[in-house]
Parts: sequence; C-alpha cells; structure tokens
Amino acid sequence: MSLSREQMLVEMGISPIWVLRDTPVADAAAPVPEAPVQPELPESGPAAKPAASATPVAPAAARPAAPPAVVSSRPVADMDWPALSAQVADCRACPLHAQRQQAVLGVGDRQPEWLFIGEGPGAEEDARGEPFVGQAGKLLDAMLASLDIARGQAVYIANAVKCRPPGNRTPESAEIAACLPYLERQIALLKPKIIVLLGKVAVHALLHDDKALGSLRGRRFEYASIPVVVTYHPAYLLRNLPEKAKAWEDLLFARRLLRESRPAAIPAAFSEPELPF
Ligand code: URA
Ligand code: SF4
Repeated sequence: MSLSREQMLVEMGISPIWVLRDTPVADAAAPVPEAPVQPELPESGPAAKPAASATPVAPAAARPAAPPAVVSSRPVADMDWPALSAQVADCRACPLHAQRQQAVLGVGDRQPEWLFIGEGPGAEEDARGEPFVGQAGKLLDAMLASLDIARGQAVYIANAVKCRPPGNRTPESAEIAACLPYLERQIALLKPKIIVLLGKVAVHALLHDDKALGSLRGRRFEYASIPVVVTYHPAYLLRNLPEKAKAWEDLLFARRLLRESRPAAIPAAFSEPELPF
C-alpha cells in the first residue's frame, strides 16, 4: 500500500504542517479611512484557526493556515494601523489575554497633538472596547475639556496594557513589557506633539521609572524626542480630590510645552482658570 505524503506525515506524528500565511490577514483588509473618533475595534476577524482533523484531506500547502496566535508575520515595529489592530485583537503574548472580553487598542485622532496614556482597561472598557469610558474616563474627559480639547479631536487615548487585568489589579512588569511594542508602535504612527502619562504604570511602561509619582511631576521627560509629562491617574484623583489642583498644574505645564514646540496649536491667550474640573 502506498501512502500519500499527508498520510505519511500523520503516521510519523508530524502532521498537520502549519504554513505561515504569506499575506497577513490585516494586509487583506481594506485601508481604514482616517476618522477622527474611532474606537479601534478589530478591522479583521481572528486568524484562521487550524483544522481540527488529524488527517487533512488536501495538502497543507494548498490550505495555508496560521498558528493560532500569529496574525501577521511582520514585526510589530513595521505594522500599519490595520495590521496593528488585528494583531492586538488576537494577541496572546501575556496572561492577560485569558480573561479579557476584547483587547482595547486606543481611541482618537490619529494625527494628534496630545497622547494620553493610562494603565489598562477596566470592566467597562473591556466590555465596550474603548479606553476610559467609566468613572475615571468621565474625569479624563473633563480634564480634556479644560484644555479645550475633546476626545477624538487633537487627542488620542491609549493604555499601557491593552487587556483588562482581572479584578482591575495593577498590571505586572512582565505584562507591561509584553504589551510595550504595541504602545511604541502606536506612538511611532501617531507622532504626538506631547505625551501625558497618567499614573505610575504608564510611567513604568514608557520611562522605565518606578519613583514616586509626586517626584516626577513638573519635569519635562522625552520619549523619541517627544516631550513627556507625568501626572496622577484620574482614578487616583477620584479617591484624592484635593490632588486635582496638582493635576491641573501638570496639564498647564504640558500645554506650555506643547505651545513651545507648536505655537500655532495653542492660541496665545489661552485660559488658566483656578481648577476647571
Ligand atoms: N483606567 C485606565 O487606566 N485606563 C482605562 O482605559 C480605564 C481606566
Ligand atoms: Fe497581548 Fe498586551 Fe493583551 Fe498582553 S495585555 S495579551 S501583550 S495585547
């Protein structure tokens, strides 16, 4: 009896063979128009899952399939928005993938002046697929309004980790590190003029600094030649209302830095009211 190649491979215990797709799923997706406000929902479905059958009926090469966790063979650092969205939607690079409803990439203007970076999605963000839509998000929106900006206009909002930590625990260092390439790629694509880090986790992710947040406020840091400012996380401010005044100082400081680099972006006579949120 002569065995087919596939049957032989099955007999040898080395079938099926998964062939990495030549065309990443995301490349096949239609280009995404640049819309100002846009929750970054996955733009393509999850990667094709390998067939369960132990005896594939057609040669593997004729039915290319990717391994479960691989969406694109391109490095993250080379990805465009569709590829990045698809990759994050399907990512299983750290244990946070296990309990998420969905990964939350970010939201907003893809050519922003401002980039705000928080910690990670909470329950509502996990359910809705958009960052900062819960209580902390309402405060963040009020903070943005004080700067005369609105979600989606001149601002992009992202998180250090894209998947919700169970019970809203603080993400671990290894999880932050696993997710960092996505944040780095977002920043490279967005090219914001100023970055505001909201709380310790964002500071840890981008500046690799674990000092007390209070000691980092009021200073100009840099990431990829972009000025970076540190302030309190809105969830912390909700628990420590008197600290809001300090957060407002930090935002004014950030706006001054932005104005130095982009005078046209901020009107000369902008207001600095006492505490607008
Ligand atoms: N807290 C965060 O850090 N990010 C969110 O998206 C929501 C709450
Ligand atoms: Fe992947 Fe980031 Fe989600 Fe971890 S948190 S599974 S690295 S997208």
